Amino acid sequence: PSFRDFLRCLPKCEHHMHLEGALTPHVLFVLAEKNNVTLPQDDEAFKSPEALLERYQRFTSLDDFLHYYYIGMSALVAAADFEALAWDYFQHASSDGVAHAEVFFDPQAHTSRGIKYTTVLEGFDTACKRAEKELGITTILTSCFLRHLPPKDCLELFEDEDLQESYKSGVVRAIGLDSSEKPFPPENFTELYTKAKALGLNLTAHAGEEGPASYISSALHNLGVTRIDHGIKLVDDQQLLEKIAAEKTMLTVCPLSNVVLRCVNTIKDVPIRKLLDAGVQFSINSDDPAYFGGYILDNYVAVHDAFKLSVQEWEGVVRAGIKGSWCDDDRKAELL
Ligand code: ADE
Ligand code: ZN
Repeated sequence: PSFRDFLRCLPKCEHHMHLEGALTPHVLFVLAEKNNVTLPQDDEAFKSPEALLERYQRFTSLDDFLHYYYIGMSALVAAADFEALAWDYFQHASSDGVAHAEVFFDPQAHTSRGIKYTTVLEGFDTACKRAEKELGITTILTSCFLRHLPPKDCLELFEDEDLQESYKSGVVRAIGLDSSEKPFPPENFTELYTKAKALGLNLTAHAGEEGPASYISSALHNLGVTRIDHGIKLVDDQQLLEKIAAEKTMLTVCPLSNVVLRCVNTIKDVPIRKLLDAGVQFSINSDDPAYFGGYILDNYVAVHDAFKLSVQEWEGVVRAGIKGSWCDDDRKAELL
């Protein structure tokens, strides 16, 4: 058996994937046609699924990607669209050997274009329940807030009765912060996170992807997050690196994403070895698999090809991922 098979068989947890990021160009075109959604006529990339896929190889930054990401999701309209999208992801995750998946979605990217939150959630939650039943994957849904929008809009949506209901019923068990990172520092969202914490939700935020290490410390201090999404800029701040290692705060690293969005030049520049040497806990994730050319196992394999982790190191990475998950202790014990 190949090393890929070894990596496939590890009980992996995925902590950083956006369900909307599982939308392939092919499905995007099919849904746009079905839902009568007009794609931009003035951009050659939308000529065909093939042209769009080719454009995805040439992202120049996080914002360049987000432009396509938000247009792409305009093809999602019915609950069945959201369900099919998530189900497609869970099938990939299952064949990659994912045991537990904590998945993001972006409510504001849908409510802002007139899609009801309950429609989005119905689709995603149905797929999660099916994944649990048919694939044996445990799941957690995380609603992310878009940091390029006014914090007061985020707060207002958080307070909406449909969102509150989803939090209180436990269908959505965490909040996150994503979208364009600079110049939207975490401290803008202190009030939102204070309210989410009061509801007992788990807290995370994207920080230190393109933005500076100071965004990581702000997310920890001002938002009270218990994990950091991406966080690769942590290696620019030795003191913070040591603190995060000591406190066992997990980073959810997305290696292929970092290369495709040009946060690093090559996979060798993702600071995997530095994090291992410093004793920082991290997991390896796909972020937006349909946009970045790979699901979770491709990310594991890319890291292995670049860094040649030992079997013991891989087992340590996977164990850190299980311990850093938000599932209950019984599920963790099953996976450990
Ligand atoms: N939304 C989807 N993927 C993202 C990423 N990598 N960073 C910020 N926001 C995102
Ligand atoms: Zn992300």
